[in-house]
Amino acid sequence: MPSVHTTEESSMDIQKIVLLGSGNLANHFGKYFIKNKINVTQVISRNKHTVTALSRKLKTLCDTSIEMIDRKADAYFLCVNDDSIKQLSVDLSGFLSSDKLLIHCSGSRSLEEIDDYFENRAVIWPLQSFGILSKLDWIRIPFFVESSHGATNAIEEFCKKLKWKYYPVDYVRRKRIHLAAVIANNFTNFNLIVADKILHSIDIPLEVLKPILNEGIENAFLNGPEQSQTGPAKRSDQKVIQFQLKELSGIMPEFKEIYKLYSQKIQDHYNRNSNLG
Ligand SMILES: NC(=O)c1ccc[n+]([C@@H]2O[C@H](COP(=O)([O-])OP(=O)(O)OC[C@H]3O[C@@H](n4cnc5c(N)ncnc54)[C@H](OP(=O)(O)O)[C@@H]3O)[C@@H](O)[C@H]2O)c1
Repeated sequence: MPSVHTTEESSMDIQKIVLLGSGNLANHFGKYFIKNKINVTQVISRNKHTVTALSRKLKTLCDTSIEMIDRKADAYFLCVNDDSIKQLSVDLSGFLSSDKLLIHCSGSRSLEEIDDYFENRAVIWPLQSFGILSKLDWIRIPFFVESSHGATNAIEEFCKKLKWKYYPVDYVRRKRIHLAAVIANNFTNFNLIVADKILHSIDIPLEVLKPILNEGIENAFLNGPEQSQTGPAKRSDQKVIQFQLKELSGIMPEFKEIYKLYSQKIQDHYNRNSNLG
């Protein structure tokens, strides 16, 4: 069935943007918007140093105070820490008209985090790590979006204009996706920090792990993670497990608990019994 859009919905077109914040996401969004001919009219952020640097890169105006905010923009991207979204939106309600579109970009905060003074609220959450040095392939990034009724059309048109892969999801599903991403990505990266330290103790670069890791990830996506698990815990090889625990004592004893727990969980998962000492 074709969706019905009200006149109010269709009239909102996101052409002019104000970025709030000058951290990782604001930097990546800003550069990408400019490159795609979206007008970033201003960057507002409390940190004079980073806001000036970003506005120079974008060749746009900047300020450290929301009192100076451009009241005529179409959308305001709140690229600030999750904990600051609520208060910032309350503060903005003192300067912007209530029909303005406010967008936050957090995977773990609800749409209602934006003050209900604003009729048009949205979440655009990119499932991607935006480190300052990250190289991004924008058209492969999934964007999970949620919006108040009147803003849905504008958000979808905006994503289409940028050729983003976007998926409308509610908060319950967004939180679950975020949880899965933390486990799959952030925990894996921490394991790499540990692996790097272990290799560093014998002057071997992390690079040696690249082929096995790449192949492991490929396999997991090709055949499913269930089929792709390998290693001593999967084989329930107690000798190797005990030996590696001993090795860890000399390099990184604080990781032993996690090693034991993971080995146990993998064995439990594959229905084998074992007692780790
Ligand atoms: N980075 C990612 O990989 C990623 C991915 C998806 C979604 N996101 C979301 O994007 C948003 C921004 O994250 P980020 O990674 O860009 O964070 P970030 O690099 O830490 O930057 C945060 C920005 O928020 C400002 N800020 C912090 N506390 C504030 C406050 N109380 N009032 C006003 N401004 C404040 C910071 O200013 P100061 O420099 O003065 O502290 C900085 O400009 C978050 O909602 C996050 O969940 C991030």
